[in-house]
Amino acid sequence: MSARVAILISGSGSNMVALADSMTGDHPARPCLVLSNVPGAAGLARAAERGIPTATVDHRPFRGDRAAFEDALQAELDRATPDIVCLAGFMRVLTPAFVARWQGRMLNIHPSLLPLYPGLDTHARALAAGDAEHGCTVHEVTAVLDHGPILGQARLRVLPQDTAQSLATRVLAQEHRLYPAVLRRFAMGERGRIDIA
Ligand code: GAR
Repeated sequence: MSARVAILISGSGSNMVALADSMTGDHPARPCLVLSNVPGAAGLARAAERGIPTATVDHRPFRGDRAAFEDALQAELDRATPDIVCLAGFMRVLTPAFVARWQGRMLNIHPSLLPLYPGLDTHARALAAGDAEHGCTVHEVTAVLDHGPILGQARLRVLPQDTAQSLATRVLAQEHRLYPAVLRRFAMGERGRIDIA
């Protein structure tokens, strides 16, 4: 039986699309839910076009009560019964208690070569540091933000003319290669790390 994958998004959902479109044929997993914390996020329509069930838990009414927000997220996940949860541009910080419920079953993609540049503005930070290389990382989610065992990285050379925007575009293209490759292996129980140049 295929592994069931829930994908959490906040925005355009291009990584979600890359993941969803990879889960065909002999792939060991299938998408069961796309869940957004942003009502009307573009990725929701892209999921619906693909026939994937969608749900929204708007974080704003839960301001100041992160546990209640996460209970609502958990309720949607409980309905969808995923085996694996993929964070794909999901821009809310999750509490250790929520992460613990999914530990070993929750992945995240981050637009830097972790452990470099956890958090935001990764492309500008890589440029400011004068890094020769930049890229993206898929890792298991643990209680510490943007940490956790690294399952794969894709790297690219920073060019003299690069801006934060051009880097973001080029890294995103690498994300679309890396995340499906990692998910396929993860769904088969493989935890070894892959590297894409
Ligand atoms: C991606 O670049 C992803 O790595 C980043 O948000 C973007 C989402 O794009 N995630 C983070 O920064 C999480 N810390 P998408 O909605 O088109 O997939």
